[in-house]
Amino acid sequence: MSRHLINVLDTEVHFDCDGDEPILAAMAKTGRKGIPKGCFGGGCGICRIRITEGSHVTGKMSRAHVTEQEEADGYALACKCYPRSDLQVEVVGKIIRALQR
Ligand code: FES
Repeated sequence: MSRHLINVLDTEVHFDCDGDEPILAAMAKTGRKGIPKGCFGGGCGICRIRITEGSHVTGKMSRAHVTEQEEADGYALACKCYPRSDLQVEVVGKIIRALQR
């Protein structure tokens, strides 16, 4: 499986990720922070991101956190998001929203 470079916008964080590995798990393995970590199971929504560049596929995600329309607009949960190319991602989860209030 090919490796892809994941760049987290507005941070210094970037890391490699295999195409069969969720982005959040790949980041956690490197010990980097940047995307908030939670359940790793697609249920809590804390790892919500928006893919601004590149292609990806997703596994099963809670619709409470990413609606079908949002998914079509590039939103995903990083723990259920698999890269198919190098990606630029933006963190848009609950923690960031709380900080921006
Ligand atoms: S870590 Fe909980 S949904 Fe991704």
